[in-house]
Amino acid sequence: NLPQHVKIVEVGPRDGLQNEKEAVSARVKIELVDRLSRAGFMNIEAASFVSPKWVPQMATSAEVMAGIERRPGTLYSALTPNMQGFEAALAAGAGEVVIFGSASEAFSHKNINCSIAESIARFEPVARAAREHGLRLRGSVSCAFGCPYQGEVPLEAVADVVGRMRDLGCDEIDIADTIGVSTPRKTQAVMQTAARAFALERISGHFHDTYGQALANIYASLEVGVAIFHSSVAGLGGCPYARGATGNVATEDVLYLLDGLGIQTGVDLQQVVDAGAFISAQLGRKGASRVGNALLAK
Ligand code: HMG
Ligand code: MG
Repeated sequence: NLPQHVKIVEVGPRDGLQNEKEAVSARVKIELVDRLSRAGFMNIEAASFVSPKWVPQMATSAEVMAGIERRPGTLYSALTPNMQGFEAALAAGAGEVVIFGSASEAFSHKNINCSIAESIARFEPVARAAREHGLRLRGSVSCAFGCPYQGEVPLEAVADVVGRMRDLGCDEIDIADTIGVSTPRKTQAVMQTAARAFALERISGHFHDTYGQALANIYASLEVGVAIFHSSVAGLGGCPYARGATGNVATEDVLYLLDGLGIQTGVDLQQVVDAGAFISAQLGRKGASRVGNALLAK
């Protein structure tokens, strides 16, 4: 008995594009978000208010947020590593802010330049401010299944960070396979560990597809009751601070899987395929979604 409804958080405009070497114009990003809004997503990660020195591609986030058409009922999220990011996200009208930490000490230092404990201390004022301003708060836990710098990440480390994110008042917590190394049994063990520290119905799976395991990991997560997944149109993406990491699992592939299982998402696959074709053409390459390419070749 798998969940009957799944929420897909479309992260292509953020996780997808943040890793692109060539600057993608705000105009193109806006059109991408608008196309995704029209496809019916309830939640789109559209921006990231981080240091432009660290992630230059996200420097246009305020312009993107100002230019998009807000579809009623769609939540537009932004990454906010600290109060400077929060203030920018608030000014830009984000509906949800995302604090992003890690289950790996080594990755925390590489990605946000501080220890896990320091990151939680930085997130505290962000969490408080989100509550004061009535914004939804999401916590992301990187390297929950393995780390590019330290290798194995113990289950206790995942449980610990999930507990800290819960204590900060997160409405939703993402369990992320930053480098796409997990396999189904491991995925279930990690998800069940997370679910001992936080409500299962508010846990999401964020799978990169580096080793081609993401769909299998999503199916395994569904089996243990996870009903929120992140994915990226055309399989765009990768984290700039995780070498060799490829994109998130492609949204088109996830939608095809869920549709075949009779699971509702409220998202129109064909419109996502078209959005994938649009952004791939802009980037001058073929999209990475198998389903997208199959449907486009029809
Ligand atoms: P730091 O250098 O320690 O920060 O970086 P700082 O507070 O010392 O500030 C240094 C400079 O950055 C200052 O500017 C600040 O103004 C500026 P300067 O005086 O040198 O000109 N600064 C900012 N600028 C804009 N927005 C801000 C901001 N904060 C400081 N919010 C910091 C610490 C966290 C800022 C930095 O490490 C950073 O920006 N890291 C972001 C890394 C990142 O975005 N990674 C990708 C997203 S996470 C991800 O992809 C994983 C995920 O998908 C899940 C998964 O797959 O695992 C979510
Ligand atoms: Mg990611």
